Order: sequence, then structure tokens, then C-alpha cells
Amino acid sequence: MSAILSPGNMKMRAMLEEDMDSVIHIEESAYSHPWTRGIFKDCMRVGYHCQILEQDGIIHGYAVMSEAVGEAHILNVCVHPRSQRMGLGRLLVNHLLDAARRMRAEIILLEVRPSNKAALALYHDIGFCEVGTRKHYYPSDNGREDALILALHL
Ligand SMILES: CC(C)(COP(=O)(O)OP(=O)(O)OC[C@H]1O[C@@H](n2cnc3c(N)ncnc32)[C@H](O)[C@@H]1OP(=O)(O)O)[C@@H](O)C(=O)NCCC(=O)NCCS
Repeated sequence: MSAILSPGNMKMRAMLEEDMDSVIHIEESAYSHPWTRGIFKDCMRVGYHCQILEQDGIIHGYAVMSEAVGEAHILNVCVHPRSQRMGLGRLLVNHLLDAARRMRAEIILLEVRPSNKAALALYHDIGFCEVGTRKHYYPSDNGREDALILALHL
């Protein structure tokens, strides 16, 4: 029998090419404008920090982060819609903060849609602050949507 779904029962590991079907399924279930398989493959190819969150071999979420010259950048954090609100998003972001510290990054940055209230609540709760906007950054159903830039000093 499988254990109850909870952050404490999750395993974090590196993303592999064979995870792509599950990752794309979650990506397309969770985002209105999902990343393509090619984007994930490029992130793995260039050595970005691409992590899978799984329990009993079932993938519930993942995260992608880049790091260069003391700056870490969260590029994707995603939890399967049926596994949301169980603390997994917080687990993923806290894992990225630890990884960025180990990489000796001094700051961690991300972009988020102003309309993404769940992600904004999560990032604010963890301590991120708004430091700017990028105009017309995201595709949206009505053209383009601005991005908020959030940052946290490590
Ligand atoms: C954003 C996302 C990763 C959050 O993951 P999650 O596992 O549901 O979040 P958690 O259960 O860890 O929630 C942590 C905190 O975030 C906030 N939060 C999460 N979802 C929320 C929601 N729908 N509404 C309001 N606050 C929310 C709460 O403060 C929550 O703490 P609480 O449960 O103690 O109240 C998830 O909604 C998701 O994958 N969304 C689609 C992809 C996406 O938008 N990614 C972010 C791109 S920038």
C-alpha cells in the first residue's frame, strides 16, 4: 500500500530524459501556456538544476533553476494539479534555495504572472520581494501579460 502523500514522504532527484512524458503531462495540466519537451531537454542539456519530486515512483512536481555569477534564477516550479495545496510547492522552492546557497549564489530571482495568485502567495510567504516588472513578457489569451520580477537575497 502506498504511503500518504506528504512532503515528508517525497523524494527529490535529478530529472531524466525518461521523465519527460510525465513532466509534459503535468506541465500541460498545470499551465495555460506550457513549456515544450524541447525546452526541458535544453535545460537538462545545458546543466541547469532540474529536479523531480516523486513518491513511490509517481512524479508529483518538478523545478528548474539556472545559476551563473552568483545569481540563481528559478525558471519553473510546478506541482500536479491533483497534488497541489499539500506543501509540495513550498518543498520544491525551499530545495531550490538550499541548492542555490550550495552553488554560492547571493541572490535568487524569478518571473511570475501578476495573475498567478497561488505562486505569488507561495513566493511572498517564503520571503521573496517584488523588485521590478518585465513588460509583455508572457504570452496570454489576450496578447501578452507583464511579469513581476521577484528576488530573495540568500
Ligand atoms: C504555485 C504552485 C507551485 C504551488 O504549489 P502547491 O504545492 O500547491 O503549494 P503549497 O501547498 O506548498 O503551498 C504553500 C503556500 O503557498 C500559498 N498557496 C499555494 N497555493 C495557493 C492558492 N491556490 N491560493 C492561495 N495561496 C496559495 C499558501 O500560502 C500556501 O501555504 P498554506 O498551504 O500554508 O496556506 C502550484 O500552484 C502550481 O504548480 N501551479 C502551476 C504552475 C505555476 O504557476 N508555477 C509557478 C510559476 S512562477
